[in-house]
Amino acid sequence: MNAISASAPGKVILLGEHAVVYGKPAVALAIDRRIKCTLSPAAETTVNGRSYDPSKHPYLDHMINLFSRPVRIETEGSVPPGSGLGSSAALSVSFLKALNGVMGNDIDNERLANDAFITEYTVQGRASPLDTSASTHGMGIVVNGPEDSGEHLWDISKNESKWSVRDIRIPEMTLVVGYTGIHAATGPLVEKVRRYKDKCGFAKDVINDIGNLTIEGIGALKKNDIVRLGNLMTQDHRSLSILGVSCNELNKLVNASLEYSYGAKLTGAGGGGSMIALTDRPEKVCEAISLHGGTPFIVRTGVDGARKE
Ligand code: PMV
Repeated sequence: MNAISASAPGKVILLGEHAVVYGKPAVALAIDRRIKCTLSPAAETTVNGRSYDPSKHPYLDHMINLFSRPVRIETEGSVPPGSGLGSSAALSVSFLKALNGVMGNDIDNERLANDAFITEYTVQGRASPLDTSASTHGMGIVVNGPEDSGEHLWDISKNESKWSVRDIRIPEMTLVVGYTGIHAATGPLVEKVRRYKDKCGFAKDVINDIGNLTIEGIGALKKNDIVRLGNLMTQDHRSLSILGVSCNELNKLVNASLEYSYGAKLTGAGGGGSMIALTDRPEKVCEAISLHGGTPFIVRTGVDGARKE
């Protein structure tokens, strides 16, 4: 067996995180930051030159068990772990794409997205297929959006939940990411929202609100109405804050960006990680984010999904 490499992109969530776990709609865009995974034959399993410790690599551990032989795993990339930018999805998708190459299978995107979702679901205890489908397909996707939001790609289901994934055409726009530098694991934040939702009818209303504003955002995207979209993103941030998944550092970066943006919000699970701002003054937003303790970068969207390297 020769070394086989595959890569997959990270993502930002424009609207709908957390609510999507309960079947509400969400929109995610792949970004020009990727993870590349290279697999090659070896006498023992190693990860980036170190002997393999399953407790340090929960995502890899789930997937390694699909392959009965030892394998040398090398990962590289520019999606910081726990940054809310889909690092675990990009790792799972690129690893499974490379692993199928090693096993001589030509896996299609529907199966790849499903297998990567099962990995995230198993490791996190609960998940939606938003990140893994965005990383597999690239470009932009809508989960559980209206039928006219874009071409149907695939359906993914788990227990009683079902998600329908569509491609969505995204108008040209500039997004700035502000990374708080705080590593926040997705699983506990998803669990926090679940507990709140099960205990409190008010939290269910907030999740419904996120679903409604996301539908409106999909309409704004179709009309290329960036002003309305930005407004809805900021509203979404408020709703996510009420659900308890924002934090002071994220709020500071969102507030600082708003002066120069159409809208801004946390992206991903929250609790740290990153925020995004929709703007036509990216330099000013980058400056504001740096001034308030974040690490800014401008992201390019409309990028490829999973691919062999
Ligand atoms: O922080 P990330 O990149 O893992 O995004 C999580 C998105 C959630 O909606 C919070 C969870 C999910 O599985 O959809």
